[in-house]
Amino acid sequence: MNLVIVGTQWGDEGKGKIIDILSKEVNYIVRYQGGSNAGHTVVTNGKEYIFHLIPSGILHKDKICCIGNGVVVDPQALIKEIKDLAKAHIYIDRRLKISSLAHVILPYHKVLDQLRETRRTNKIGTTGRGIGPCYADKINRCGIRMVDLLNPGVFKEKLKDNLKEKNEIFKKVYRHVGFGFSSIYKDYLNYGKYLSKYTCNIAILLNKATQDKKDILFEGAQGTFLDIDFGSYPFVTSSSATAGGACVGTGLSPVKIDKVVGIAKAYTTRVGEGPFPTEFPPVFAKFIREKGNEFGATTGRPRRCGWFDSVMVKEAILLNSISELAIMKLDVLDGLKTIKICIAYKYKGKLFKEFPDDLEAAKSAKPVYKEMPGWERTINKVRRYQDLPLNAQRYISRLQDVLNTKISMVSVGSSREDTIFI
Ligand code: IMP
Repeated sequence: MNLVIVGTQWGDEGKGKIIDILSKEVNYIVRYQGGSNAGHTVVTNGKEYIFHLIPSGILHKDKICCIGNGVVVDPQALIKEIKDLAKAHIYIDRRLKISSLAHVILPYHKVLDQLRETRRTNKIGTTGRGIGPCYADKINRCGIRMVDLLNPGVFKEKLKDNLKEKNEIFKKVYRHVGFGFSSIYKDYLNYGKYLSKYTCNIAILLNKATQDKKDILFEGAQGTFLDIDFGSYPFVTSSSATAGGACVGTGLSPVKIDKVVGIAKAYTTRVGEGPFPTEFPPVFAKFIREKGNEFGATTGRPRRCGWFDSVMVKEAILLNSISELAIMKLDVLDGLKTIKICIAYKYKGKLFKEFPDDLEAAKSAKPVYKEMPGWERTINKVRRYQDLPLNAQRYISRLQDVLNTKISMVSVGSSREDTIFI
């Protein structure tokens, strides 16, 4: 079976943990979009691992982990991740595969990302990892791909061409000195050499795996509302974070995808700027942020927190054809008197049952809530659904009704073990 895992909110839903659990059942785990802006956290046997580029399934020793063509690869960050895994005695030499078609993040992408942010009036709050500028080069047809790092002649020509244009922009628009050719050329040829043993044709590898009846898990990064097309644009990332991205980002056809599982947090969080209708007021946000350890795995930035927004998650279910959901971090809501679920928005006297496309409406929309009583006791040790406090069961059951989708997993803590399968 070929399965896609996607985030249904603004990322950080807890995908890493579910991917790690489901990885046991498959042969291949594949990243298809995003780059080192992602941070997937897996906690096992009391040890925490944070992955930015390597698929979270790598902790299972017999699995093949792939980075598809849709990912933008920062070779420096990737090599650090490979070396950190080796330090933890996790060896990946025959298990990591990188698409030769994946685009490479270069130093000028990162600096441009940061400079653009300082100049914008409508700041996005990017991770500063060079994601947007790298994808922009890909679409502008001047990007440098993994395969180019293996060919000194091609790389030289492409890098020279890029620097010629980009240095003009750095100097004239941003008053930045720009970048010299030699050190980037030398460093990136070395990175290419280091990564050459992992670089291959992922589309052929995965299509062959499917013919051989192997199972593939596609690991979505970020979330539906950070998708470049369907997210809360322009406060989004630059890739296709929805399930469709799994096809264009790997070279496997849509007819080969069997199922999509969605991941949602029991409440909502967002890092960076942009509309957030159910956002908590500051004092309560601080309380939940600290309780849920809601700080970015990549940048350490505090995450904004709010109530569960069923309007958003319903739309994510539709856009991704999600047939099953995992609800994460239910334990963070322990001890609250009341819990709210947003079921619609009000804007200019009208009721909205969809996330508004219009930026002004999205910013000003007021949530319409259904309130429910919370539960007193902690649920971290619960392993069976029927052992959850009645009001926690009612919350899950209400979400299931509102979303009209089966909830098959509930997470009650950060470890693999803290999971209830329904
Ligand atoms: P970029 O992907 O660095 O360009 O950032 C664009 C927006 O996406 C910013 O609001 C980031 O905070 C957000 N973002 C990017 N990656 C993640 C992620 O993995 N989790 C949550 N937010 C993310």
